[in-house]
Amino acid sequence: MNRILVTGITGLVGSAFVVALLRERDDYEIVCLVRAGGGKSAAERVDSIIRDECAFDGCPECADAVLSKISVIEGDVTSIVPSELAADPMLQNVNIIFHCAADVNLGKDPTGKVFRINYHGTEKMVELAKLLGVKEFHYVGTAYIAGKLRGTAIEDNPVDNGFNNPYEESKFKAEFLVRNSGIPFSVYRPAIITGRRSDGRIRKPLAFYRILEFLGKVKSHRCSKMGVSPDSWVNMDINFATNPSEHVYFVPIDYVQEAITALFQLPVTNTAYHVTGDSPVSVRQIEDSICKILRLDGVTVDSENNTNSQGEALMSRFVGDLFPYFSSDIVFDQTNVRKALGDEILDWEFGVKGLETMIRSFYLDHFANVEWLQKVISEEPDRMPIR
Ligand SMILES: NC(=O)c1ccc[n+]([C@@H]2O[C@H](COP(=O)([O-])OP(=O)(O)OC[C@H]3O[C@@H](n4cnc5c(N)ncnc54)[C@H](OP(=O)(O)O)[C@@H]3O)[C@@H](O)[C@H]2O)c1
Repeated sequence: MNRILVTGITGLVGSAFVVALLRERDDYEIVCLVRAGGGKSAAERVDSIIRDECAFDGCPECADAVLSKISVIEGDVTSIVPSELAADPMLQNVNIIFHCAADVNLGKDPTGKVFRINYHGTEKMVELAKLLGVKEFHYVGTAYIAGKLRGTAIEDNPVDNGFNNPYEESKFKAEFLVRNSGIPFSVYRPAIITGRRSDGRIRKPLAFYRILEFLGKVKSHRCSKMGVSPDSWVNMDINFATNPSEHVYFVPIDYVQEAITALFQLPVTNTAYHVTGDSPVSVRQIEDSICKILRLDGVTVDSENNTNSQGEALMSRFVGDLFPYFSSDIVFDQTNVRKALGDEILDWEFGVKGLETMIRSFYLDHFANVEWLQKVISEEPDRMPIR
């Protein structure tokens, strides 16, 4: 029996990984380190999130069996004392660590919180791993440690290309703590995680989804000021002041789940894997898909076209931290993933169809009470947007 200490089990990736692994294998047990929060104990949070994840994965009846393999230690990666925690009886037979906890905030880090969680949290987990004498350290990083690189990022030997935000820098430096630990490691580096391939749904929408939320709300607001129905075409006069990329790596959560779960079960060979897929979309495709579904005209993406409009200022305030990901020219090489899992795992295409499915399902699930959104997502638009 293998006993894995998991961090980040309450998150998007951690919950998907744990449920997939425990449904597939009966020779693993999980101990997880989890924060209490929202008036719930750590154990109560794990119980409800694992039930949600099992339901999301189409197997609500698996939840009791999955939960029976999970025990919970309440704690925060930034405040654990490794020498004390290593003596906890629950950790005695732990032989693997899967460290997935992170603060995924892409904005500024004025209080140092992102660095504390992502870097110092990893430092503590590595120290704990050494004290426990684990045989493997699995770390969930990010493909965007490639930062400001233009061109191809290979999976091995990452280098500092400069970073777009403190999050990327903290994840780059944290990955090196793992690489330099002397413990055999695997590193999984997802790109921008989106809804699953079958129906576009996601249990916990993060990052990119803020743009969808923002545009939906701004349109509602504009229409009520103008006295027009929000289900009609409206000129938004908004510019995203960034260079439109041809390579936006949206990666469906079910692919992330499948790839990480499969890679995790392979021999550990000090290897990093780009869990990004190999099917980037362009900013033009994203823009057209959103604008077509929401019936928005006058939305542009152009770093030169600074309109100084109120819309543009709002845009930059609420979603400006995402702009670097829409101007990134990085191509994520897949050599290690192909070698480990074969070419077939990458045999899927995101494309415009994937974008439209993802956008519609987001509004369907997360704005169920907004009538005009439910109307526009259920209808085929009568034309393409005008820029
Ligand atoms: N989502 C993406 O698009 C994306 C892309 C690339 C890489 N990644 C990487 O994937 C990993 C998982 O992220 P995610 O997408 O699953 O994000 P998420 O849903 O926000 O999950 C983050 C997890 O980390 C836990 N955590 C945060 N701070 C902690 C602390 N101080 N102590 C203990 N646990 C803490 C959270 O616990 P709480 O529930 O208590 O907050 C949660 O379980 C991260 O390493 C991230 O860098 C994510």
